[in-house]
Amino acid sequence: MLLTQLTVPQVTVPFAPEQASTFAPHVDALYAYLLIITIFFSVVITGLIIFFAIKYRRRRPDEVPRPRHGSMVLEVGWTIMPLGIAMTIFVWGASTYFKAYRAPHQAMEVYVVGKQWMWKFQHQTGQREINELHVPVGARVKLTMTTEDVIHSLYFPEFRIKQDVVPGRYSQMWFEATKTGTFYIFCAEYCGTNHSGMGGHIYVMDQSAYQQWLAGGAGAESAAAQGQKLFQERGCASCHQTEPGGQQGRGPTLYGLFGHQQAIQNDGLVTVDESYIRESIRNPQAKLALGFQPIMPVFTDRQLSEEQILQLIAYIRTLGQQATTTTGASASGSTTGPTTGGTSPEAQRSNPLAPTAPRQGNSSPQLPPARGGTNSNR
Ligand code: CUA
Repeated sequence: MLLTQLTVPQVTVPFAPEQASTFAPHVDALYAYLLIITIFFSVVITGLIIFFAIKYRRRRPDEVPRPRHGSMVLEVGWTIMPLGIAMTIFVWGASTYFKAYRAPHQAMEVYVVGKQWMWKFQHQTGQREINELHVPVGARVKLTMTTEDVIHSLYFPEFRIKQDVVPGRYSQMWFEATKTGTFYIFCAEYCGTNHSGMGGHIYVMDQSAYQQWLAGGAGAESAAAQGQKLFQERGCASCHQTEPGGQQGRGPTLYGLFGHQQAIQNDGLVTVDESYIRESIRNPQAKLALGFQPIMPVFTDRQLSEEQILQLIAYIRTLGQQATTTTGASASGSTTGPTTGGTSPEAQRSNPLAPTAPRQGNSSPQLPPARGGTNSNR
């Protein structure tokens, strides 16, 4: 609707970028609505100003206008009407926003790390890309994002989504591409000298091409496998058990923990999600698990990069999900065990849309809902 084009000899400037995601028509419709309202009132107000200036101009030097003492109808009218219009914009905008920034549980997970001046993407299957992202068409892709240095903002203009990427926390967004092709990636937050060069391309491929692309990266270890290696190398395993039914170590057992509630000292419960795991590595004493000593060492960004933490998270997610995910044995699509959120890397590789039980259904129902200290990042 907004794709009218201004045509100059040789140069075509589209009014808006192509629509290439499920959000794009919604965002464009809202934008068109705002544009129409703006044009309508600009024309009406300007027109009335000119009309009144002429109609009520002073005609004789001694002319005095009749006094007016206000009008209740006008006062109420111009209060109620703008309120009504503003509320339609608010409700429409808020519902569109929540759709775009509340990621679904069934999605293909991609981790993103921004850095002056590049975007680093990591697939659960292990493929890593810089300033390029390959995704299948028609799949829901959920991005979990952070940065190594300053604030950046990841922007896909053809998908109509954009989200700030903030140091020290995770932000998330998701999309579903509706057509194959190559589209832009930009950084939309001024972040230093080469901000304008911090971008790249997203390649939306049909399923067979995507499978081929994935196969080209064969030999790449899955993100979870890389995380498992780190888990051993950095000595995490000396305190944290990862097997079902094992003795508690000096730290909490990580088996089946992801997506569940964890009691913490002083302040109730937190949901074990990406942000909580990250915080527990960077600043272990911030929300100490109940019943454990504050003995875990701090891991600064010199000891563990943001990408390595994301690999550890990918590994911890798989614990208690499917025992076979990290050993590379083939995993069936059916997840009968205690699924703790997310699709296993192997399931994603074979079918990015493989259904996963919603995370909520697996949280211990006996526990009261978390209050206060959840560190959800929305
Ligand atoms: Cu990164 Cu601008």
